[in-house]
Amino acid sequence: MKEVYEQIGETGLRELVAAFYRRVKEDDLLGPMYPDSDWQGAEERLADFLVYRFGGSQKYIEERGHPRLRMRHMPFRIGEAERDRWLQLMGKAMVEQTIAEPAAGLLEDFFVQTADFMRNQQG
Ligand code: HEM
Repeated sequence: MKEVYEQIGETGLRELVAAFYRRVKEDDLLGPMYPDSDWQGAEERLADFLVYRFGGSQKYIEERGHPRLRMRHMPFRIGEAERDRWLQLMGKAMVEQTIAEPAAGLLEDFFVQTADFMRNQQG
C-alpha cells in the first residue's frame, strides 16, 4: 500500500478527492446525501482518511478518532446502486487525474472492497 503514497503523495490523494467531490455534488443519487452546508468538510474528511490509510499524516485519527467507517455510514441508505455510483464517480475522478499503475489498481481494489463493506441495505 505504501506504493500509493510514494507514487502520488498527499497532493495526488487530495486532488483525487477534489475531482471526486466535484462529481458527487452534481450527482442525483449521492449528492442529496451530503450536508449542503459542509461540502468542504466532507471533502477534507475523505482526503484526510485516505492520506492516513495510505501511510501519510495521522490528522484524520487526531481529529476523528478510530475510523469506524461502517458505523459512520449507517445513517445513510447504501445499497448496490449507491455503492456502484460511488465507485463510478471515483473511477471517473481517477481517469481525470490520470493516476498510473500500480497506484491506480491498488486504490481501485481498496475502494471496491470498502464500498461493498459500507452496504447496509439489500439491493
Ligand atoms: C458506498 C457508497 C458510499 C456512500 C453513499 C458514502 C456516503 C457518505 C456520506 C453521505 C458521508 C457523510 C459526509 C460527511 O463526512 O459529512 C460519508 C462520510 C465518509 N465516507 Fe463515505 N460513502 C460511501 C463509501 C465510502 C468509501 C468507499 C469510503 C472510503 C474509501 C468512504 C469514506 C468516508 C469517510 C472517511 C467519511 C467521513 C467519516 C467521518 O470521519 O465522519 N465512504 N460517506
